[in-house]
Amino acid sequence: MLPEVPLRRIDHVRYFVGNARQSAYFYRNAFGFDVIAYAGLETRHRHEAGYVLRQGHITFVLTSPLSPSHPEAARLMLHGDGVIDIALEVDDVRRAYHAAVERGGVGVVGPTAQQDEYGTLEFATIRTYGDTTHTFINRDRYQGVFAPGYQPIDPERYNPQTFRSVGLASIDHIVGNVELGRMDEWVSFYEKVLGFKQLVSFDDKDISTEYSALMSKVVQNGTGRIKFPLNEPAPGKRRSQIDEYLQFYNGPGVQHIAMATGDIISTVRAMRANDVSFLRVPKTYYEELEARVGAIKEDIADLQELGILVDRDDEGYMLQIFTKPVADRPTLFFEVIQRRGSRSFGKGNFKALFEAIEREQAVRGTL
Ligand code: FE2
Repeated sequence: MLPEVPLRRIDHVRYFVGNARQSAYFYRNAFGFDVIAYAGLETRHRHEAGYVLRQGHITFVLTSPLSPSHPEAARLMLHGDGVIDIALEVDDVRRAYHAAVERGGVGVVGPTAQQDEYGTLEFATIRTYGDTTHTFINRDRYQGVFAPGYQPIDPERYNPQTFRSVGLASIDHIVGNVELGRMDEWVSFYEKVLGFKQLVSFDDKDISTEYSALMSKVVQNGTGRIKFPLNEPAPGKRRSQIDEYLQFYNGPGVQHIAMATGDIISTVRAMRANDVSFLRVPKTYYEELEARVGAIKEDIADLQELGILVDRDDEGYMLQIFTKPVADRPTLFFEVIQRRGSRSFGKGNFKALFEAIEREQAVRGTL
């Protein structure tokens, strides 16, 4: 077994979007992120605009090209808005990069040190599924707001009095959709290249509905802090949600990001008040809930009002809810999760959820 590449945590998730200025407004006012830093023409960033958003320990970076000659500009036509990079904080960028490349990882950017008056930021990037990358980053010697080129957001831009967190605290897991028949390859990529271990697996019998099916395996790093489930489509009567994603994203990519909260009821209530749209399961789900999961601390009436789902395993239970896709293409969406002991991913909810997704697909004409 290869030793693990020591990874500390997910440093940030970077999105490549058509209009970072407007996406920043959405994630601030709907999802409760504070906009903390900016790069663009005003900071002598000539090729792209970037906004850094933070809530709890979660950092999102939204970038948009400023001209068609930006090396990533074409991906907007191909993929639409989506995740371009999941950055992982490491002790030693050079070591992590060389270890990953030696084990079969494909380098995109070799170890690089960028400097400004706030110190030195080190990073290097490798490929993962589709056009998605992982950047290894170390900011031990960097004191700036995010990275060279970024400045704290102009206080004139957003009124601090209108900012309200919804209580999202950390990234729980990030799910990738990969090509039919290639899930095992990507599982072994994470095992071999990054020293992850496989956690649990569902086969398609566990999580199929009348129409669609998928297969899912979860890999996590040695500390268990970084969890990446990987899905592939499985044959069904009709087109599955994974097929729909792969069609509209034009290939593999990040399907959803699960963000943890300590109080899912207040988080979801705040997000609903901000007009975030969530998937709905039928009323019957709540009629059967107590018999399925036993006693829970939350009031079932609150869960039903907000559409929050519950699942239990040997270690405890968890509460979760899924947004509808956040852009026009039915690709990226988000999950809000609160764990009460359980470390699983809500297998008991898959059937109800898939049926909810299929109702949405039917409306889109993509089932
Ligand atoms: Fe999830």
